[in-house]
Amino acid sequence: VSDRERIAVALGGRSYDILVGDGLIGEAGAHLRALAATRLVVVTDANVASLHLARLEQSLAVAALRHDTIVLPPGERTKDFAPYQHLVEAILGLGIDRGTLILALGGGVIGDLAGFAAATLLRGIGYVQLPTTLLAQVDSSVGGKTAINTSHGKNLVGAFHQPRLVLADTGVLATLPPRELRAGYAEVVKYGLIGDAAFFDWLDGAGEALLAGDPQAQRRAIAVSCAAKARIVAADERESGERALLNFGHTFGHALEAETGFSDALLHGEAVAIGMSLAFAYAAAKGLCPARDAARVRAHLERLDLPASAGRFANIATPASLVQHMMKDKKTRDGRLTFILPRRIGEAVIAPDVAAGEIRDFLAAALRG
Ligand SMILES: NC(=O)c1ccc[n+]([C@@H]2O[C@H](COP(=O)([O-])OP(=O)(O)OC[C@H]3O[C@@H](n4cnc5c(N)ncnc54)[C@H](O)[C@@H]3O)[C@@H](O)[C@H]2O)c1
Ligand SMILES: [Zn+2]
Repeated sequence: VSDRERIAVALGGRSYDILVGDGLIGEAGAHLRALAATRLVVVTDANVASLHLARLEQSLAVAALRHDTIVLPPGERTKDFAPYQHLVEAILGLGIDRGTLILALGGGVIGDLAGFAAATLLRGIGYVQLPTTLLAQVDSSVGGKTAINTSHGKNLVGAFHQPRLVLADTGVLATLPPRELRAGYAEVVKYGLIGDAAFFDWLDGAGEALLAGDPQAQRRAIAVSCAAKARIVAADERESGERALLNFGHTFGHALEAETGFSDALLHGEAVAIGMSLAFAYAAAKGLCPARDAARVRAHLERLDLPASAGRFANIATPASLVQHMMKDKKTRDGRLTFILPRRIGEAVIAPDVAAGEIRDFLAAALRG
């Protein structure tokens, strides 16, 4: 049995592979040689550099791949305009050409920023994702969405630009703070809830082992998640339809994140966990999905120490303020709220025309616990 999973993202001339397994960073040189880059520029953050950069550089050296490394400060602020400008100027200062390959070693912040730099440098050069958070391994490194933040909101300046390869090394998850691991796990659960009831059943049993660091459970969960995302992205690369299913739990979640100022008070994955639980509760209240499924989802999240209710936000958010955030979302059109609603565990649909008043009434009850 191989201890590597390979998932193909089928996008014609822009197709690429995702490899999942323990130790892939140490083998990166061998995988990268096949891409025949003229030179490599590693972009990473200081946390990841201190823990995992040496192994990558060693592997590039063994493969005789010439590279430079740029280390940025960790944190969401690194996706602002100023660090973006600093990064592209620094890369241009190296004297790159169109055969240069950017290697994004880090979480979603580094992946989004380095991916956007690759999309825009010389009107587009190649890049490879080496995701180091669970969230990045199951979500942000796959699918080609790259972006930076603006004063008007997150991810509002960006481009679709697919990577040439994704190497998801499960070994690096051992150094990830447990809270970050759990937050990424919420996105794993999402794939089960929107399209794969058997996967959710498996997670209901294997979730604890995964979070405790079991490499087999992690490899399987990441591979199944990437395969689900790859299938959806291949069918709808630019989100004109089905790709919107990936926003399950995110409309409620983003509103809560906005109310907490996108701070450490609420990590993205934690917001998604609450959002998924609320989407199930709302659908159950409307008779669109079985109440026992809603209860099961909430129980699963709470058992794995993820938040699953909005009660603790009653002091800082009102139903009206949350709905206002939803209306500002770049995915709303003509003031209509689009929600992804579950029909049962394993099936979700796009509901493009949900009345704001109904959501407000539901949230009034949800904020009470
Ligand atoms: N492009 C997409 O499709 C997409 C999808 C989802 C999220 N995102 C973006 O991803 C970003 C969030 O990504 P994230 O949650 O990975 O956050 P992150 O990149 O900020 O990483 C979280 C923290 O963990 C540290 N870290 C990373 N890997 C580590 C490791 N192996 N060991 C120890 N520490 C490690 C980082 O330095 C950082 O402090 C957001 O900006 C979001 O907009 C993009
Ligand atoms: Zn998300």
